[in-house]
Amino acid sequence: MSKVQELIPRVLSRYSPVTVDRGEGIYLWDTNGDRWVDFTSGIAVTNTGHSHPKVVEAIREQAGKMIHAQANILAHEPMLELIEKLTATMPDGLDSALFSNSGAEAVEGAIKLAKVATGRPAVIAFRGAFHGRTHLTMALTSSKLKVRGHYEPLVPSIYYAPYPNTFRNQFNVPDEDMDLACMDELEELFATQVAPDDVAAIIIEPILGEGGYVVPPTRFMKNLRELCDKHGIMLVADEIQSGVGRTGKMWGFEHFDIVPDIVAVAKGLASGLPLSAVVANKSVMDKWEPGAHGGTFGGNVIACAAANATLDVMRDEKLPENAASVGEFLMSQIREMMPDNPNIGEVRGRGLMIGVEFVTGDGKMNPGAVQHVVQKGHEHKTLMITAGTHDQVIRLAPPLVINHQQAEEFLDVFADCIKGS
Ligand SMILES: Cc1ncc(COP(=O)(O)O)c(C=O)c1O
Repeated sequence: MSKVQELIPRVLSRYSPVTVDRGEGIYLWDTNGDRWVDFTSGIAVTNTGHSHPKVVEAIREQAGKMIHAQANILAHEPMLELIEKLTATMPDGLDSALFSNSGAEAVEGAIKLAKVATGRPAVIAFRGAFHGRTHLTMALTSSKLKVRGHYEPLVPSIYYAPYPNTFRNQFNVPDEDMDLACMDELEELFATQVAPDDVAAIIIEPILGEGGYVVPPTRFMKNLRELCDKHGIMLVADEIQSGVGRTGKMWGFEHFDIVPDIVAVAKGLASGLPLSAVVANKSVMDKWEPGAHGGTFGGNVIACAAANATLDVMRDEKLPENAASVGEFLMSQIREMMPDNPNIGEVRGRGLMIGVEFVTGDGKMNPGAVQHVVQKGHEHKTLMITAGTHDQVIRLAPPLVINHQQAEEFLDVFADCIKGS
């Protein structure tokens, strides 16, 4: 038994054989000194690349000054600066931010805030969504049974609606009308299971993450916004995987020309230090009484310094724009591989949030092919991970600092990996 198997609890899935030593940009070096190409970004986190020098410098400088400045006891400049910088990347109404440590905590905070702000108990989430692993967030999650199975009773008053995934259209309507069928399902929920004026929030991933990297139609997102307005429901965008430039825009919701009421942010925000945020309008945020929410570590001063540097790098190096350009290139090149590789069913995404769904000859999900591609990737010292309920999708999520030449090198590897898949 290796030391990894002996010491690390098996509850942590092990997607790769790598024991890592260091990272730089899109590359990792393992403890044998071998270089790996990282197309996972530590699950969409290291958007500025591994150990970006400006982020490292900000962390070093801050660590020498102060490590823990508890937010209920002390205010600190890095947090003040970050509130201004983060909210400046969002539409005008989203002008207040509260920090926590993980994505799940941000979702917990967003839903608690929606409940306090509306005085309502219920929440609607989408099938296939992943929002985290705490008791509330796993109750909102239905991407995979293993996240929530065997933990009942879960948090009650959560209802589920279908996410418009046209590639897996289960309605008896043409694909282009599937979003309308999904809206009908929401109306059906209101007619049969929960009164709209009992619903505090509808929470949605603007681009579905763990559920398979699915992009919803713009009309759906706009109709959802309208539905929330009509019933006084808070629209909560879970931007934890789709945010911080990954999709070619700073925030996933920008692709649909809508503005959510509350945004949950994490993963890429501090380039890998644990930091998350709930962002909302100040009038909504102030519905929270002092002490009604918070935490010991939330808004850690080093994490805030890292996030300030991260947002500077995003802007200065135009990383969302780079994600859009390299992502478009990768998707078009992989689509060109489709005629010779009929088991690629769909290539989809925005920016560097790319899903490649594999199918069998009769169009069914093909997790076996996906597993083959991931394993072949390891032979090429290239890391990829899966998505989708049945792991039927390869997700491509490299750091946003990737350049076109590195993308071309990856495409050669990918072409070899899909051979015989
Ligand atoms: C969309 C989304 N929401 C929430 C989470 C939970 O974040 P964390 O693992 O930091 O708690 C994730 C993590 O993958 C996510 O992708």
